[in-house]
Amino acid sequence: MNIKKAILTGGGRGTRLHPITATTNKHLLPIANRPMLYHAIEKVVAAGVDQIFINVNPGDTQLEQAIGDGGHWGVSITYFEQTGGPQGIAHVVNEAKQFIGNDPFIFYLSDNIILADLQDFVQAYEQEGYDCMLALSEVPDPERFGVPVFAPDGKTLIDVLEKPSNPPNEFAVTGIYIYGPGIFFDAFDKITKSARGEYEISDIHSVLIKEGKKVGYSVITGWWKDTGKPSDLLLANQLVLDNMDKNEYRVHGTVHESIEIGEKIHIGAGTQIGAGVVFHGPVMIGENCTLMNCEVGPHVTIGSGIIIDDIKIEHSMVLDNSYIAGPWYLRESMIGKHVSARHSSGQKHKPVRIMLADKTVFEDCE
Ligand code: G1P
Repeated sequence: MNIKKAILTGGGRGTRLHPITATTNKHLLPIANRPMLYHAIEKVVAAGVDQIFINVNPGDTQLEQAIGDGGHWGVSITYFEQTGGPQGIAHVVNEAKQFIGNDPFIFYLSDNIILADLQDFVQAYEQEGYDCMLALSEVPDPERFGVPVFAPDGKTLIDVLEKPSNPPNEFAVTGIYIYGPGIFFDAFDKITKSARGEYEISDIHSVLIKEGKKVGYSVITGWWKDTGKPSDLLLANQLVLDNMDKNEYRVHGTVHESIEIGEKIHIGAGTQIGAGVVFHGPVMIGENCTLMNCEVGPHVTIGSGIIIDDIKIEHSMVLDNSYIAGPWYLRESMIGKHVSARHSSGQKHKPVRIMLADKTVFEDCE
């Protein structure tokens, strides 16, 4: 593959995921127990990219500390700030002009999770000699996205509209694109800010199509887009867990002899599963956790260094180093890092949905 460079997003405030994102960059929130950004990095690396450029909020060092210089994947990762604050996705891409030069590149919005690989997408771009390539996905609510417009033949792309109130079809332009040498930056000089004050990526695509550039597309399945709400993030977690091969789930920790481990249960090294624990896969548990008297799953991810006692938990995620004790029944809940929640007067038959920010303390009084 000839495409060696990719720009990924790592900025934004993630306000709709507050309070969890008040202290953690949204792109570091786990999906199947790995930071959201890892999923994007691994997709572009698998497609042959070896130089990645990630935009960060001004002054943000959290992302670089957590993700590193790319050595983990055998690639280089460079971080850059978006000068002048948020001004739209097309502006983010333009800020990376100095790194991209005259090379083709992939742009990948890191809050887009896809199950498919990008190889076919990249191959189609190269084999068909496109100037630009867009990943599309069929969605129930295209008005929330960039939407492609097709000629009466139903195939030829003639425009892209940003969040049209009357979408002409059921497709969304996802956040994954390829641009040929120089193509993007020439188009950026021709667009202006939209009514929402942003340089819209859809305007770039519209300019390219109208200038007669060869803009191709490919419809991908298994696409999920963060819309910012906790329930959406839990849905992405569910999607990825469901689609992981059963061989990717391993039992490394120690499990009490009375416990039956079914399919799709991952237990990290140093984790101890005590008596009275029942699993309903898929479930992912990180390292050095202790679980006692729990019913866990389906679709639960538990980070590392966590103690859970007397809890029923489903469709939820718990971030690192927290302590939760019941009796308590948690459903569609997100527990941040270093939380201490002890609810001895809770109930195990009535589910609650909670979201606890990092370092929250929640305890019954004696
Ligand atoms: C952005 C783009 C939109 C695209 C979407 C995909 O939307 O403007 O065209 O469909 O990403 O994730 P936004 O996240 O700014 O609402």
